[in-house]
Amino acid sequence: MMPDTIRVFAPATVANVTCGFDILGFAVDQPGDEITLTKSDTGEVRITNITGDGGALPLDADKNTCSVVIKMFLNDLGLRQGIDIVLDKKMPLGSGLGSSAASSVAAIFAINELLGKPRKLEELLPYAMEGERVACGAAHADNVAPGLFGGFVLIRSYDPLDVVKLKTPDELFATLVHPQIEVKTKDAREILRKQIYFKESVKQSGNVAGLIAGLLTSDFGLISRSMHDHIVEPIRSILIPGYSEVKAAAMEIGALGAGISGSGPSIFALSHNEAIANKIALAMKQIYGGIKVECETYVSRISQTGPRLI
Ligand code: HSE
Repeated sequence: MMPDTIRVFAPATVANVTCGFDILGFAVDQPGDEITLTKSDTGEVRITNITGDGGALPLDADKNTCSVVIKMFLNDLGLRQGIDIVLDKKMPLGSGLGSSAASSVAAIFAINELLGKPRKLEELLPYAMEGERVACGAAHADNVAPGLFGGFVLIRSYDPLDVVKLKTPDELFATLVHPQIEVKTKDAREILRKQIYFKESVKQSGNVAGLIAGLLTSDFGLISRSMHDHIVEPIRSILIPGYSEVKAAAMEIGALGAGISGSGPSIFALSHNEAIANKIALAMKQIYGGIKVECETYVSRISQTGPRLI
């Protein structure tokens, strides 16, 4: 007997990871979003409640990422199943922590489970990517792929879609800080340059390759030397108060590297042990306290689990 109701958690994610714009991302243990789906006999997909969004997200089923991906999925399966959705946003919107991705991933994972897994996990990714298109106008996969599969993920290609899960050292810890201002991914994408120089591409490719090689061989020195972004960070960091202070403090304490989480304003640092990661969280809090910006910090391993039933 399949249950008529299901509740799912999907994790926050750090996209770009400095040099890997739109192609690298990893999942963390917390925060994350929760969704409850209940079958109904209305034949309609409806959002019955959203909590934790301060009224910012649409209840209209044609506009909300969760309902859009669920409708697409039912449509492709040729099903006219009624579904009532309750979304509990447990993470801030416009945070750079993959908030919209967590909702899309939770939704697509939950509907597949509720219907008895008609599709394999990897077949769910294009649906979650469409959720991102609804949220920010671009179907980027560097939040939804690690959100769905867990771990550290490379999007080798978008067309055709080719996603590679990377093995990472167990000692790797992420520290995240979310200063409580909102940066919309759509806006943060619009301000980027449309073209880059050949030599910038060479520099960035070297760093992406170095970061991946470093992760696969647990070469922390190489990871550290590779965590640089010469293309996006100089433009987007201007939108983030305290950015250079937070990054400098993290590096001073012993981070392997630090950068903007996704499109910001959250900032992340990677460290090779938990004590350093915790120290960085403390320093981040102090810096934002000093400039009177509220913030939340999180320390987590690279989470290998992705979404789960709760
Ligand atoms: N790669 C995306 C961007 C991630 O930087 O716009 C958004 O979270």
